[in-house]
Amino acid sequence: MDLTSEQRAILDGSRGPYLATCMRWLVEWGDVMGARRLIRVDNTHALLPVPNLMARGASRETIEQYVEGLREACRHRTAPGCYCTVHALFVTLDKVNAKENDPEQVRLQQEIADMAAEAGFIPTFTCAPYLVGNVPLKGEICAWTESSAVVYANSILGARTTRHGNESAIAASLLGVVPEFGVLLDENRKGTLRIEVSAQLVSPTDWGALGYFAGKLAGLGIPVFNGVRRPSQDDAKQLCAALATSGGVSMCHIAGITPEAPSLEAAFHGEVPAEFVGFTDATLRDMYASLRNRTGDEVDSVILGCPHASIREIAEISALLKGKRVADGVRLWINAARATKAGADAMGYTRVIEAAGGTILCDTCPTNMRIPARRIVTSGFKQAHYARGMVGAEVIVAALEPCIRAALAGRWMGDE
Ligand code: F3S
Repeated sequence: MDLTSEQRAILDGSRGPYLATCMRWLVEWGDVMGARRLIRVDNTHALLPVPNLMARGASRETIEQYVEGLREACRHRTAPGCYCTVHALFVTLDKVNAKENDPEQVRLQQEIADMAAEAGFIPTFTCAPYLVGNVPLKGEICAWTESSAVVYANSILGARTTRHGNESAIAASLLGVVPEFGVLLDENRKGTLRIEVSAQLVSPTDWGALGYFAGKLAGLGIPVFNGVRRPSQDDAKQLCAALATSGGVSMCHIAGITPEAPSLEAAFHGEVPAEFVGFTDATLRDMYASLRNRTGDEVDSVILGCPHASIREIAEISALLKGKRVADGVRLWINAARATKAGADAMGYTRVIEAAGGTILCDTCPTNMRIPARRIVTSGFKQAHYARGMVGAEVIVAALEPCIRAALAGRWMGDE
C-alpha cells in the first residue's frame, strides 16, 4: 500500500507504540484486502466492551489483559473532526435484576466508558447509532462495527463503510484513516442478486423475513429488491439486520428507493440480470417457520428491540401495554439506546411499560448478556437467530403485536 510520509512515520512509531500498532492493524488489513491507500474517515462506530469473561470462568489475568487493551486505546484522543460513537456493551450500566449483570464487569465497563468519553468517544452504547444522532451523509466514509448498522449505513443512508472489527474501528477512530477497499469503491457497490418481491410486507418483522431470505442467498454479495414499497425506518432496520445475520452482506439496494438505486438499472450499474429470485407470500411464511422451533406454548422471555428499539416502537409497545400486566414469570425486555430511553422517559412510555412489568434495557441486550432463557418470543429475526444459537433457547419470531400478546398471556397465542 502507498503510505504518505506521515502515515509511514506513525507506523515507525513517531506518535508512540500504541498508534504504531493501530497503523499496523490498518496497513496489514488493507494489504490483505488489496487496498492501495489509506483514506480519511470522518465517522466511526467503535466497540469497547468488557467481555463476559467472568461468567465464562476466565482467569483474572486474562480479563485484566483485555481490559488494559481497552484502557490503552482510551488513553488517546479520537482523530480531530472524527465523529466517533460506541456500539452496544455486554452489560448495562443501569441497575437491573439479572445476576448476569456481573458487578465487577459493570465496574470495569464504567471505568472504560468514562475513559472513552474523555478520549472523545460519544457513549451511545447501541447497535443502531443511526437512531441516536450518528447519521452519516451519502458518500461519507465511515468505519462502523455492528454488521446490521453497516448494511443500514451503506444501503439506506448511502454512506460507505466496510464491516469493521474491534481493532480496526479503534484504529480508524484514533488515526482518522481506513484502508480503501470493498464497498468504499464505486465499482464494488453494484448489485449482484435480483430479488423480485411480490409478498405483502406489512410489519417490520416481515422486512426482517425478506432480509433473512436474501442474506442466505446473497452471501457476500449485494441483493437488489424490486417491487417493494418504501420501508419505514423500523422496516429498514429489520431488513438490514436480517441481511447481515443469515449472510455476510455489507449492503443492498431497493430499486426506486435507496440513494444509489433510483432505478433497477442504476442498482446494477446498467447491467440488470435477466435471472431473478422471487419472494412470495409463501416464502414469507417459510422464513417465519424457519425460526420457530418451539416444542410447547409457554413462554419465559419476550425480547423486543433488536436492533435497539426506536422511539416509535417504544410508543407502540407502551400503547399495547397500557393498563395491562405482563404474565408472572415472563421477562419482557425492550432493548434501546440510553438516548432513546431518555425520550421514552419524557413521553411517559417508560412509566407505562414498567407499570406493566416490562423493562427498557439500555446499553446492551439479553443475548449480549447471555441471559439464559428456555423459550423466547421476539420481533427480530437477528435476535431469534442468535438466541437460538448463542443462548440455546427455543425461539418464535413474530410481529410486535403477537409478541406483546404472548408476554401478557405467558404463552404463545398465535399471530392473529
Ligand atoms: Fe443489538 Fe443485541 Fe440485536 S446488540 S443487534 S439487540 S443481538
